[in-house]
Amino acid sequence: MFPFELLANDTGSRARRGRLTTPHGVIETPIFMPVGTHGALKAMTPDQVDAAGAQIILANTYHLHLKPGEGLVEKAGGLHRFMNWDKPILTDSGGFQVFSLPKKQIGEDGVTFRNEVTGEQTFLGPKEAIAIENALGADIIMAFDECIPYPSSHDYAAQSIKKTLRWAESCRKAHRREDQALFGIVQGSVYQDLRRECAEQLAAMDFPGYAVGGVSVGEGLELLKQVVEFTEPFLPEDKPRYLMGVGLPEDILESIERGMDMFDCVIPTRYARSATLFTRRGKLRLTNRRFRRDFYPVDTSCDCYCCRNFTRAYLHHLFNANEVLSATLSAIHNVHFYLTMVAEARRAIERNDFVAFKKAFLEEYGFYRQ
Ligand code: GUN
Ligand code: ZN
Repeated sequence: MFPFELLANDTGSRARRGRLTTPHGVIETPIFMPVGTHGALKAMTPDQVDAAGAQIILANTYHLHLKPGEGLVEKAGGLHRFMNWDKPILTDSGGFQVFSLPKKQIGEDGVTFRNEVTGEQTFLGPKEAIAIENALGADIIMAFDECIPYPSSHDYAAQSIKKTLRWAESCRKAHRREDQALFGIVQGSVYQDLRRECAEQLAAMDFPGYAVGGVSVGEGLELLKQVVEFTEPFLPEDKPRYLMGVGLPEDILESIERGMDMFDCVIPTRYARSATLFTRRGKLRLTNRRFRRDFYPVDTSCDCYCCRNFTRAYLHHLFNANEVLSATLSAIHNVHFYLTMVAEARRAIERNDFVAFKKAFLEEYGFYRQ
């Protein structure tokens, strides 16, 4: 079930080229997973997501539980059929979303919060999260974890990983479906001893994949790199590793170099809606007046639907006129940009040339000029 093959290892770094097989198809790693929180990528149809090169998308247990409810999704034939996406899906457990709510009460068995749809008090713990994820039917489901803020004290982070580990075991016991792979999540803030402890304990539970959570919470790229670097040696080599909620292009490339295989982030679709488009030469803010009469495509080296058919001047106009097409075309481009970047990363690992690729990519992107 869910074979993960390692096809190549970069000898100049920890980067790996892998292939994960799921019931809805194969995922070539390293991979970026675009985010469709409510069972839809904002402003994109599944055909457009597919054409942008997506192999797997992410949806959220917390949001789908509140609206429309997992019972309805199950009745629709599961999340794949409900949203008409027949490639792999990963659901996050709600761990992250619930902990970012303002008035939650964190207990030993889970979290109580006010349901923003019904106004009622609602409880989510490991058993509840897994029951919801089993009903939604994604290919990969995530354990219910505690994602603590940054910064947090060593004491607090140490207490928290105890809970996350206990919950991981409850998730494993509650999980009912063999056609879904349950991934464990490593927490431990920025503390090397806690990350190691959490990774080793999770590895002993033998999950089919492991995530590194509790990053991208304001710690910055230098700490992110350190956390990945000192956690990675304790993650089983032969299982996929997923770095949650990351990130900008530079964050992803630096983390691929440090042995991570899977990434998700709202950035490409969110930035698209606020007129920020990624190009090989850096980000463009399309609302800027300098694009008013710029009849070049967003990125001259891009072959996405947006760049093949429209100009920067036209996108500038769409943003100014508040046309919803601005979000669609920009999201198509940004998602394509991310997926092209990871496809090139995969080829670089196959050539055993990842570090040079990363440097050249970030040089052209202007990262070193920031
Ligand atoms: N998404 C981004 N970070 C996290 C995390 O630490 N835990 C979970 N469950 N989801 C996340
Ligand atoms: Zn494009």
